[in-house]
Amino acid sequence: MTSATATAAASPNIALIKYWGNRDDALRIPANDSLSFTLSRLETRTQVVFSDDLADDRLIINGSEAEELSRARASSLLKHVRELSGCRSFAQIESETNFPTAAGLASSAAAFAALALAASTAAGLDLQARELSCLARLGSGSAARSIYSGFALLHAGEDHQSSFAEQLFPVSHWPLIDLIAVVESDSKSVGSTSGHQLANSSPLQDARIRDTPRRLDRTRQAIAARDIEALGTICELDSNMMHAVMMTSAPPLLYWSPGSIGLMHRIQRWRAAGDPVFYTIDAGPNVHCITVPEFAGVLEARLSEDAAIEQIFQAPMGEGARLLSN
Ligand code: DP6
Repeated sequence: MTSATATAAASPNIALIKYWGNRDDALRIPANDSLSFTLSRLETRTQVVFSDDLADDRLIINGSEAEELSRARASSLLKHVRELSGCRSFAQIESETNFPTAAGLASSAAAFAALALAASTAAGLDLQARELSCLARLGSGSAARSIYSGFALLHAGEDHQSSFAEQLFPVSHWPLIDLIAVVESDSKSVGSTSGHQLANSSPLQDARIRDTPRRLDRTRQAIAARDIEALGTICELDSNMMHAVMMTSAPPLLYWSPGSIGLMHRIQRWRAAGDPVFYTIDAGPNVHCITVPEFAGVLEARLSEDAAIEQIFQAPMGEGARLLSN
């Protein structure tokens, strides 16, 4: 092979049932199953070029050479692609993201889903969605879910092959909307990779894991019945349980800012008054406000009156990872 190239795009996803902690940190095998939906509008585009002229893998993000930690993380995914395909060349990866990567908007999920598809295609592999999902997981656990459109379930599994995501419901079943309220765009909090390693130090982690099948079951039923009230109740509980683990780990991780808490209170009041909205929060202060299309306009207008919110991204449900023409 002298030079082989492919370009792919992928979007972040928002987990309704979260995972926190890994059974195996090196392979990123999660401690529990998780369920998400994939977003649109926010997108990462990644081009991979394998070339005999390179002495090592290179990673360029939004036009600048990436720091060594990110490069090495991408390179370990490429190593796996080389093993699967027999390709011996190093690659140049060029990645462009249309949303702020530092704002805690799950940029790693989009980045590694796009990289898995672009790299495997450039290396001449034609992987099934399940294999692609396993490959993306090696870069970032949540990336395994961004391979799919609609709602996706990530089976924690026990080893590399059994830890993969699959689509549960297509977008057409219930096209929800995520209004992401950015309450702190420059937060420098502990990232997921380090956070996962602290999960077992919390006395609450065991209880959270043991109760996950029940929450997952209720979530699937609420999605099947398109019941936002039921979905909101169980998903807010799930988000709070994950944050309870974070807050009680050693050292403790407190991701919420005053702006996050104010918004959580208001969303609970709105839903109690009958409005179709609930919150869920990842490893950062930003609040994902989940709603139905009919209510998105009203909700966005309410959120824009909140002085604590710096920016709002309206992300409807979207596509899984896709190939683009070079
Ligand atoms: C809180 O997939 O971001 O968003 O493998 O280190 O990239 P890495 O972790 P990541 O962890 C996701 C944590 C979460 C919950 C979730 O998406 O399930």
